[in-house]
Amino acid sequence: MNTKSHMPLTNSLFCFLFLSSFVCGQLDYKYYDATCPNLTKIVRYGIWSAISNETRMAASLLRLHFHDCFVNGCDGSVLLDDTSTFTGEKNAPANRNSARGFEVIDAIKANVEKACPSTVSCADILTLAAREAIYLTGGPYWSVSLGRRDSLTASQSAANAQIPSPFEPLENITAKFVSKGLDIKDVVVLSGAHTIGFAQCFTFKQRLFDFDGSGNPDPTLDSSLLGNLRSVCPNQNDSDSNLAPLDAVTINKFDNVYFKNLMNNSGLLQSDQALMNDNNTASLVSTYSKYPYLFSKAFAASMVKLTNLGVLTGQDGEIRKNCRLVN
Ligand code: HEM
Ligand SMILES: *[C@@H]1O[C@H](CO)[C@@H](O)[C@H](O)[C@H]1NC(C)=O
Ligand SMILES: *[C@@H]1O[C@H](CO)[C@@H](O)[C@H](O)[C@H]1NC(C)=O
Ligand SMILES: *[C@@H]1O[C@H](CO)[C@@H](O)[C@H](O)[C@H]1NC(C)=O
Ligand SMILES: *[C@@H]1O[C@H](CO)[C@@H](O)[C@H](O)[C@H]1NC(C)=O
Ligand SMILES: *[C@@H]1O[C@H](CO)[C@@H](O)[C@H](O)[C@H]1NC(C)=O
Ligand SMILES: *[C@@H]1O[C@H](CO)[C@@H](O)[C@H](O)[C@H]1NC(C)=O
Repeated sequence: MNTKSHMPLTNSLFCFLFLSSFVCGQLDYKYYDATCPNLTKIVRYGIWSAISNETRMAASLLRLHFHDCFVNGCDGSVLLDDTSTFTGEKNAPANRNSARGFEVIDAIKANVEKACPSTVSCADILTLAAREAIYLTGGPYWSVSLGRRDSLTASQSAANAQIPSPFEPLENITAKFVSKGLDIKDVVVLSGAHTIGFAQCFTFKQRLFDFDGSGNPDPTLDSSLLGNLRSVCPNQNDSDSNLAPLDAVTINKFDNVYFKNLMNNSGLLQSDQALMNDNNTASLVSTYSKYPYLFSKAFAASMVKLTNLGVLTGQDGEIRKNCRLVN
């Protein structure tokens, strides 16, 4: 026993009793209730109109939020444009010509600024946007705690080091999740996000023609899917940015078919299908493929963990006026 281990409890108790959450820097479900009561409505309308225009935007915003949170926390850093003094995350290889949805966040932010100027962070808007996008696509709904603040900088090298790659083995991907306080179950559950959206051919083409130098396709790729993918992604460089759905069965629906696909050797990315090569992850895949309700519940729970990673609160960071620029 030591007194140190009691400090956080004592501190938060003190905050709870004597100070506002603004000073103490905790997230709070009611954070903007007094200062921006229409926030959820504004975000919901913005996401609804973006998805009405282009269904894929739901997937793009979810991924944007993931890439924000995985690089130094959910702090809006992925939204910052490069400047002459720093190189941000937007142009890291994992994001360049790949991350999408910036204009949608800009449009929502502009409406939020009109209703409640300099009050709501871009990090919170992106968090709410992802929740609304999943819900409108048929996925679960959950309460989002708010009060995140926006970063003053962004780090391309952190993006390169921390965002998982579809070419690395499951052990490496898991290690990246574990280093953030997430676990192997979160890896499986959050990979279920690949039930919506698209991937460019270059992210899985190595499976189609000459897998690991074998001269043959990846043996863990269903042969009819292989045929379709070869026609979308012919073996030449100019097919690199063509798109294939991550879940070809129910492309725009947030459901558990991603897991059914993995059971059938129909995962698109090598890192998706790799979840079947480990007994622990394969057993979770099997469960979620059979019980959509369990996946839905688990996804909401893992998203709450993801959306609370490394947040800036209290007096840290700032409330950006324009999500692309530090004030
Ligand atoms: C586990 C490790 C992960 C890897 C290796 C990975 C990799 C990828 C890759 C390569 C793409 C295609 C990008 C492109 O072609 O431009 C993609 C798309 C996507 N990812 Fe992941 N991802 C992972 C986890 C996640 C997580 C945790 C989420 C969200 C919770 C997520 C959500 C998405 C979505 C929704 C898309 C489609 C985006 C769109 O259509 O615009 N991914 N992912
Ligand atoms: C919230 O939106 C309603 C209309 O939907 C409007 O009448 C009201 O004035 C708004 N409240 C604030 C504080 O902006
Ligand atoms: C609608 O979606 C298309 C892509 O499908 C995009 O080019 C366009 O900018 C979007 N329009 C609006 C108003 O968001
Ligand atoms: C996986 O992680 C190990 C240990 O950190 C590293 O040496 C290896 O290069 C990584 N593999 C890939 C494909 O990234
Ligand atoms: C195709 O891309 C690879 C890797 O970027 C490169 O080495 C090769 O020269 C390219 N081939 C052609 C024909 O452009
Ligand atoms: C995957 O499995 C399901 C259920 O067993 C089946 O209905 C479906 O046709 C299979 N898909 C492929 C591509 O084999
Ligand atoms: C995984 O499961 C298979 C079959 O159920 C078994 O043969 C194998 O030993 C297991 N591997 C590990 C590492 O537990």
